[in-house]
Amino acid sequence: EPPSGTRDFFPEQIRLQKAAAKAAHQAAAGAAKPGQKQTSGHTVAEHVEVGRAIETEPPSGTRDFFPEQMRLQNWLFGHFRATARRFAFQEYDAPVLESEELYKRKGGEEITEQMYNFVDKDGKNVTLRPEMTPSLARMILSLGGKVLLPVKWFSLPQCWRFETVQRGRKREHYQWNMDIIGEKSVAAEIELLAAVVDFFRGIGITAADVGLKVNSRRVLSAILTKFGIAPDQFPFVCVIVDKLDKIGADAVVELLLGQGVAEAAGRQIVASLSLKSVDELKLLMGDTDDGGAVDELVTIFEMAEAYGFADWILFDASVVRGLAYYTGIVFEGFDRRGELRAICGGGRYDKLLSLYGSPEVVPACGFGFGDCVVIELLKERGLLPTLEPEVDFVVAPYNAELRAACAKVAALLRGAGFAVDVLLEPAKKVKKAFEYADRVRGDRVFFVAPDEWASGKVRMKDLRSGSADDKEVDLPLDGLIAALAEMGITSSAK
Ligand code: HAM
Repeated sequence: EPPSGTRDFFPEQIRLQKAAAKAAHQAAAGAAKPGQKQTSGHTVAEHVEVGRAIETEPPSGTRDFFPEQMRLQNWLFGHFRATARRFAFQEYDAPVLESEELYKRKGGEEITEQMYNFVDKDGKNVTLRPEMTPSLARMILSLGGKVLLPVKWFSLPQCWRFETVQRGRKREHYQWNMDIIGEKSVAAEIELLAAVVDFFRGIGITAADVGLKVNSRRVLSAILTKFGIAPDQFPFVCVIVDKLDKIGADAVVELLLGQGVAEAAGRQIVASLSLKSVDELKLLMGDTDDGGAVDELVTIFEMAEAYGFADWILFDASVVRGLAYYTGIVFEGFDRRGELRAICGGGRYDKLLSLYGSPEVVPACGFGFGDCVVIELLKERGLLPTLEPEVDFVVAPYNAELRAACAKVAALLRGAGFAVDVLLEPAKKVKKAFEYADRVRGDRVFFVAPDEWASGKVRMKDLRSGSADDKEVDLPLDGLIAALAEMGITSSAK
């Protein structure tokens, strides 16, 4: 169960929520009451107490999303969701607050040191989630046997980690998660890799910009077995080996010594990490590969050909990822210029549900894809989209008496799904309405003025059309929407 008083959102509830939001939107559009009295909003209280100026920056490593950034975020999320839809994954969600015990695992991972944890007023040890995978595992477990596996689910959670803030690494980030629960073959990993590539292509990133490094932890595990290292040391060794890039070979061997791994074995482990081809790996593994780790990798490369993304993936034995629970294939997205940190990462975690008490082994794999590094990448490559607010019409009353008429026009347009901005202060001069429309990026202005209104018409001016002829027309209020449709004017909101 999620923490007391919080909710999980299984795919069914996400659908319900979306339907409710849509209904509310439609109701709001239909329920606009024309003629409501408005106050001008110009009065300012004469005596206000001025307090001490507050800090206007959000906490270190966290972000505000002003409308401009929110447009970009929505654009990015739109691409995450569109890819998930193309791969037929269903959306779910869970509370950002989780029970701390969910992240207590052996392995010495950084993530468990970086938690925003505290004791709540019920005396419960809780934390802001640093990642989504444990919540997903908990939700699947809560369904008991009631869910037919495999399931393919995705989410867009905000995750919190008390990290050292640097380029592409913050203390909160949104992380697109795609997971397949209940499939033990690498057919699952291949779908996930294909989804990552599909997403990159969708935003204009090519195989020349980004690659996906693939490895299998089972290779490392076989090497450890060869050296007589106990299986329960495995998660610790992976977490240490993941630091190779940052701390170098000698320091890794040193840390491994601390875990009881002999120096010779440590050196051999580090040496095996420099392998860059599956053929080299085959040689190294020889007959120790009884688990078929090499075969899985070979299958992935073969299937990538069939899927049409072979140019995106490469084998790299040094990729192990820093989370203790991965058991098999692991992968990460990287910037080919080598300037940015990992763009995304994931892998197989077949033992996590057992760790949480599942009597049966539930195979699982997935990835997390943050919202920060990919934006840095788009900036570097000049691929950031220019996103303007989408306002189809500005409706402007000529004077205060015409506010009711103006509201009627706005309600009519909104009812037909158009995005409509009402000028709150009457605009005696059309110029004022046009200036306002320019500021809010409205495409067209409806000017509600006494003479036209008296004859059942409203004047529409097109601010974007280049031709002078069709810039200004008087349209009948009756049948306004049909007239717009005839002119080919459709809503920007899809
Ligand atoms: P992770 O490797 O810890 O995996 O994170 C996945 C991705 O989240 C990273 O590659 C990066 O894009 C983003 N990310 C992580 N930390 C930060 C941060 N501090 N600031 C910005 N972005 C960040 C996991 O979290 C796994 N739970 C993923 C997974 C899902 N594995 C299986 N299913």
